[in-house]
Amino acid sequence: MHKVDFGEDFLWGVSTAAYQIEGAYQKDGKGLSIWDDFVRDPKRIKDLSDANIACDHYNKVNQDIDLIKELNIPNYRFSTSWSRILPSGVGRINSKGVDFYDRLIDGLLEKGIVPWLTLYHWDLPLVLQKRGGWTNRDVVYWFEEYLEVISSKYGDRVKNWMVLNEPMVFTGAGHFLGIHAPGIKKVDAFLSSVYNASLVQGVGVRRLKELHADHKVGTTFSCSYITPYKDKSRHQLAVNRVDAVLNRLFIEPLLGYGFPVNDFPFLKRLDKFYLSGDEEKMKAIPDFVGIQNYTREVVKPAWYIPYIQSKLVEAKKRGKETTLMGWEIYPESIYEMIKKYASYPEVKSVIVTENGAAFEDHIRNSQIHDFKRTRYIQSYLSQILRAKKEGLPVDGYFIWTLMDNFEWAEGYKPTFGIVHNNFKTQKRTIKDSGKWYQDFLS
Ligand code: FCB
Repeated sequence: MHKVDFGEDFLWGVSTAAYQIEGAYQKDGKGLSIWDDFVRDPKRIKDLSDANIACDHYNKVNQDIDLIKELNIPNYRFSTSWSRILPSGVGRINSKGVDFYDRLIDGLLEKGIVPWLTLYHWDLPLVLQKRGGWTNRDVVYWFEEYLEVISSKYGDRVKNWMVLNEPMVFTGAGHFLGIHAPGIKKVDAFLSSVYNASLVQGVGVRRLKELHADHKVGTTFSCSYITPYKDKSRHQLAVNRVDAVLNRLFIEPLLGYGFPVNDFPFLKRLDKFYLSGDEEKMKAIPDFVGIQNYTREVVKPAWYIPYIQSKLVEAKKRGKETTLMGWEIYPESIYEMIKKYASYPEVKSVIVTENGAAFEDHIRNSQIHDFKRTRYIQSYLSQILRAKKEGLPVDGYFIWTLMDNFEWAEGYKPTFGIVHNNFKTQKRTIKDSGKWYQDFLS
């Protein structure tokens, strides 16, 4: 497999997120985010850690840009921290926060690296959470204000945008399961946050297009290929319900189809938030769809599980090889997801905005032989190439992630980086997977 097989215009990149790498959580006027607050209760994070320092990227930004350059990576996806720019969520702009992303963006451009900016990667300003956060419909206005600030500050140099990162995860894990910030476990909070995130997604894509007609505007979705545990119709119905939630819940209102209520009638409860004209607000055709795929899910019916009445059958129980996250290694999943998302007639371009793997790493003599990670990436890439050869519109691939970082509620144990980070010294060391990518891209 060679880079040229993917065509000259294929976009190669690497992804990060502000909260997972920046640290400096109260420096230079930054306001707190819901994650800064969530980690204050250490029991919520597996290794009792927080991201107050994380990779100290805020102070090491120039060095990290050099690293991306050294790796020959032409596109860099990052997110801006809302509370660094607007410490109170709305209103006063923190100029030092603005300066930080100026330095990042200018530094990237100087090295010929193209910036890809995600507006929201899960770190809502805490002050807005106190006003209900995603469960308050006003989040649409708050987000619009934030979007306009970001667009006016950086839109002269940033030309590639993503509105939300994986809305299914921050609504589901954050508002229903309570395992991510803001740590709420309420079905109503889940439903209202889903509804409002759909509004934000539509309004965000449309507003960015209005402001920058010639830019690439997209948004991202978590997704997994879902198969039945047994070849029985009850199992297939369970698959359909889970698929509606995990894979279709956000893209379908964006493309104008509304929520996937037919396969999961429970979602009709979203109707209670409806105001006239909302379907138009939610609808906006993005220039590209960002898909983020790591694994597949195998599903069986389970009448005793509330609402969804289905259960995921863990990979370990099925005797499958997994990553440190317990996720099955199943490269065909990414092929199936490209096919699925490209099958919506409105979708003209799919970009894999995240894919990668956490494995245990051992550093010896400044070397990390992470053979499994390299093999994982290569096997997923070969499925992307398969999709491409079949004529599916897959136009890019971003590895998750540049360097080992704070993996949310999992803490620092599952490492996804193609660069190792020593969190005591903040020394970055390129792993073999990074060297492979560097060579592949050269
Ligand atoms: C995705 C997130 C990203 C990272 C990877 C492993 O769901 O977008 O921040 O946590 O998973």
